[in-house]
Amino acid sequence: MSSADRLLIAPSILTADFGRLEEQARAAEAAGADLWHLDVMDGHFVPAITFGASVVEVFRRASSLPIEVHLMVANPEAQLAPFAEAGAERLIFHYEATSTPRALLEATRALGCQRGIAISPDTPVDALTPLLADLEQVTVMLIQPGKGGQPMMPALLEKVRDLRARVDAAGLPTRIEVDGGVKAHNLATCAAAGTHIAVAGSAVFNPAQSPAEAITELRAALARG
Ligand code: DX5
Ligand code: ZN
Repeated sequence: MSSADRLLIAPSILTADFGRLEEQARAAEAAGADLWHLDVMDGHFVPAITFGASVVEVFRRASSLPIEVHLMVANPEAQLAPFAEAGAERLIFHYEATSTPRALLEATRALGCQRGIAISPDTPVDALTPLLADLEQVTVMLIQPGKGGQPMMPALLEKVRDLRARVDAAGLPTRIEVDGGVKAHNLATCAAAGTHIAVAGSAVFNPAQSPAEAITELRAALARG
């Protein structure tokens, strides 16, 4: 993989220490995180509730990295503007949460944000084919959305291979992200499947190592292949 298409690492903060969020964010940034993946859950689309736009504002102030917001919410159309205003560069809504994905993509673009759609494990790649030219990113969930620290379902990487082949065949700039269960031991497999961006939550924020140690370990695993 050349440096131009180096796999990007996007820490998710679900398992971070929320009492030391800014400090942990700075440590992960200094250690080479490429962007933030902030997971918003609303208690409807998924059972848990995480945080709202104010946490995105904290990251916007504390970090110079780009921010993508993963909206695990029902009625995502109501949440695009608040997160755009909070400083997100990219808004990712769930395909399963809307019957009007094109309208949401257009609304996202009108807010000046990059457009992303996430697909849960049961959603086939075919659902996205007609939309691939009209978004910047597809996020392939490798776990059921809802909480951090779950094991990856590696069979779902077939969707990444399939999407990457479709994107490349059409000559599209669309990026493919994987989310869920990414660890040092499976990161190279994600890269080989065609992933551009890997979300890493508990692999970065865990009790066993600092965010800096964790990101160094992820980069070393990638370099080994
Ligand atoms: C889950 C979220 C995540 C995820 C990442 O619904 O979308 O981004 O929890 O955490 P790990 O890497 O621990 O699976
Ligand atoms: Zn996520």
